[in-house]
Amino acid sequence: MSVIALAAALLLMQQAAPENIDWDEAFGVEQVEADPVTGELPVDPYVVTNANAGADPFVSDRMAQAFGGQEGIRAIADRLVAINLADPRIAAIFESHDLVRLRRTLFEQFCYILAAGCDYTGRDMQDSHAALGIQKGDMNALVENLQRAMREADVPFAAQNRFLAKLAPMSPEIIDR
Ligand code: HEM
Repeated sequence: MSVIALAAALLLMQQAAPENIDWDEAFGVEQVEADPVTGELPVDPYVVTNANAGADPFVSDRMAQAFGGQEGIRAIADRLVAINLADPRIAAIFESHDLVRLRRTLFEQFCYILAAGCDYTGRDMQDSHAALGIQKGDMNALVENLQRAMREADVPFAAQNRFLAKLAPMSPEIIDR
């Protein structure tokens, strides 16, 4: 094919391309819509149970008090998400995930474990973190950030450590090996 014929063919192909291609459909990209009330994106069905929280709750309400009740716990969970998003070590892992849902489920999980009067409705730790490729260093960064959020909220040091001791056994479910 001569150069001119090739150029003509290319020009024709360009012109022939319809303008209203649905690229999402062409590439099989699924459209998910946020719930108009909660702002959360849908997730695949799973069994809702407090067992998904990954730890038994404390028995007395002393830990809940040390964390400032539900209000204090919500502030700490929100702050943890904010610190993670601003942390260059792990921010990329959180980007493009449903942060509305993450804030809610993280609050519920903390509130349930701290016996502050919530049920946990999120997924279990293995399902939640599957395919995120989380490494031990990422886990250490998140724990540091949680310590910072608790310190900023004036949670007593002993209570911080008791809470971290509840979360520590979840590591094998979260870290990708
Ligand atoms: C003990 C440590 C951790 C706890 C207690 C925890 C807790 C949770 C909870 C409750 C959820 C939401 C579950 C749901 O949507 O149903 C979640 C999701 C998520 N976590 Fe963690 N997490 C931990 C460690 C980490 C680490 C180390 C990272 C990354 C550095 C991480 C990144 C994420 C991301 C990106 C999601 C959203 C997943 C999605 O949208 O599908 N988490 N985590």
